[in-house]
Amino acid sequence: NDTDRAEALLKQMTTEEKIGQLNQPFYIKLPIPGVKTDPVSYEDHVRHGEVGSFLFLTDPKEINRLQKIAMTEQRLHIPILFGFDVIHGFDTEFPVPLAVAASWDPTMAEQAQGIAAEEAGHAGLRWSFAPMLDIARDPRWGRISEGAGEDPYLGAAMARAQVRGFQGTPENPRPFIATLKHFAGYGAAEGGRDYDAVYIPEEQMQNVYLPPFRAGIEAGAGTVMSAYMDLNDVPAAGNVHLLQDTLRAELGFKGFVVSDAFAVGSLVTQGFAKDATDATFRGATAGVNMDMGSATYLAHMKSLLDQGQLTPTQLDDLVRPILAAKYHLGLFENAYADATEQTHAEMLAKHRQMARTAAARSAVLLKNEGSLLPLAKTTKHVAVIGPLGNSKGDMNGPWSLTAKAEDTVSVFDGIRAKLPDSHVEYAEGVQIAKAFPSSFDGFIGPKIETPWSPEEADRQMKSALQLAGKSDVVIVTLGELSVMDFEYSSRSSLNLPGKQLELLEKIQALGKPVVLLLFSTRPLDLSWASEHIPAIMDCYFGGTETGNAVADLLVGDAVPGGKLPVTWPRTSGQIPIYYAHTTSHKPYDSPDFTSRYWDAPTSPLYPFGYGLSYSTFTISDLRLTAKTAQLDESITATVTVANTGSRAADEVVQLYLHQRFGSASRPVRQLKGFRRITLQPGQKQEVSFTIGRDERNYWSAAKNGWVVEPSDFDVWVGNSSTATLHDSFSVMR
Ligand code: IFM
Repeated sequence: NDTDRAEALLKQMTTEEKIGQLNQPFYIKLPIPGVKTDPVSYEDHVRHGEVGSFLFLTDPKEINRLQKIAMTEQRLHIPILFGFDVIHGFDTEFPVPLAVAASWDPTMAEQAQGIAAEEAGHAGLRWSFAPMLDIARDPRWGRISEGAGEDPYLGAAMARAQVRGFQGTPENPRPFIATLKHFAGYGAAEGGRDYDAVYIPEEQMQNVYLPPFRAGIEAGAGTVMSAYMDLNDVPAAGNVHLLQDTLRAELGFKGFVVSDAFAVGSLVTQGFAKDATDATFRGATAGVNMDMGSATYLAHMKSLLDQGQLTPTQLDDLVRPILAAKYHLGLFENAYADATEQTHAEMLAKHRQMARTAAARSAVLLKNEGSLLPLAKTTKHVAVIGPLGNSKGDMNGPWSLTAKAEDTVSVFDGIRAKLPDSHVEYAEGVQIAKAFPSSFDGFIGPKIETPWSPEEADRQMKSALQLAGKSDVVIVTLGELSVMDFEYSSRSSLNLPGKQLELLEKIQALGKPVVLLLFSTRPLDLSWASEHIPAIMDCYFGGTETGNAVADLLVGDAVPGGKLPVTWPRTSGQIPIYYAHTTSHKPYDSPDFTSRYWDAPTSPLYPFGYGLSYSTFTISDLRLTAKTAQLDESITATVTVANTGSRAADEVVQLYLHQRFGSASRPVRQLKGFRRITLQPGQKQEVSFTIGRDERNYWSAAKNGWVVEPSDFDVWVGNSSTATLHDSFSVMR
């Protein structure tokens, strides 16, 4: 087997060759301090067996050139494992992961990542640094875009699906490995500031942050990436409790751990390790197998071994799973990329339709007053207005580093193609104020053009309003640049950047029917729009086929069925806000003595799980198979779902559970089951959910472990976290 083959190879390797396998340099021509950028030195490193893996090299020709050096000139011919951030696509871009979570469709998530792995595989990549499984309850954090949102149950479902997508199934494996990242708790950064400290008590870690990782490990994920930040004052890359006790002992992870970029070296700057040698010792003993980017292991591990601070057995334990992964992937037999000039176009042609479906299934209809949507295909004059209406690169979303912007369908192009007999015109109206501050211009996204002069800005706004004034319907496309939803892209407010709200207000004042299409991943402050704009759809960043999918949705060729994977605050002052909070202390039966703000409601603008359709549904007749159960017994909850409207459409049926008392206060409700179903007009379907031990267990600090307790339970089933269809049951010992 792979481990035996790895063991046999280890026996032939020198100490230096083993350390080389732990090294993962960046292949990148950017001025990042400490990163070697000279291709000649890459060659030499490979030749001397100092590279176990490269990240950020995606050119198949260069991959093959370096691989050939490894396979022919390096002493033991050990192939390089090429890894990259294949986050939501490669040639074909799918919606950002938060949008895919909004589809509540794990099968689609699996298919999308399967396609991403297939495309990346042609380029010679065998490893993605995805899925990102960080539960995120703070939309100020830019990386909320990369995960499945605030909920551990939905997060776990998306984790399983994505691992299966990347790696295939045991019956049908794919030569590709996934990475569960960032282990763990990265999404809970203080103030939503990327990289900032995280404090998570064990019960929250177990009940909220770890479930997606547990699910990903159970699905067989090959690698885990340790996070950047300090977790409870100990950097994740040197955190023995996290990487040994939790990841290996408790969760049973058997693959290898890669650090986040430069994180081993950062153990010094984080005030944890004394120097780079100490950082090597701390990272290695915590269990970080591969050092991404910092080359700290390469420089310092040998001296630790020579001095006996690390043992040869420890070194072998670090190297073995990396070699086993290379055998598992078949790299020793089949190491090379097979992509040609044509592959990109072929992949796109093959996968565009799926990308279109995925983007349409991910959109969430937030408001549709007077059934303004769908628009009649006979609408004569359509205005598309706003800074994102004619954008291609932004539609691909953050982490779309290999897809080509020119392949992407803008909203304007999509609507024009959909309505060939209408007069469709575009005006930018405003720019999204300032360029995103970045020293890596061009690295993280499309370039932002030169800001308009005040006179030009005035002229552009006026001409957009003129266009709106003569149109039958105005499609306003607002939001954020995709680079604003990226790593190190935190925000302090959630308002629409720049003068976008002013543009929207002025368009609304014209009295025309207005549809607001929102492009961004984090929820934005829609408090004004939610009151004054009749139709609002959250389109996230939908990837290559965004424009066509949006056009399908606008005219009803696709029907929105997505649901919010995060609670939508009214204002950033409400953060953190999430539905699964515990019941707050309420000393008096009084509306005053409650957990509240005196200047804002405590309720969200839109709740978790919420989303509208062009059809209508009823969910009724909640039936439990029993009103009492023993600890080990399951209860089944069944409802009848009926499409009462006139269109075939999807509904996401959601089950929430609440335990009324026990050894800890439990959240007011928690998602414990969901299903996205399609019903024809007038069609009815029974949907059942099992409520067993798995749904009722939780980690209790009082018991220092997982418990399933006798208690009374509330059950709600509906189409959002505010579902009211209710029943209850009791569990007895
Ligand atoms: O994979 C990423 C990680 O999510 C954030 N830091 C950089 C890594 C490599 O690009």
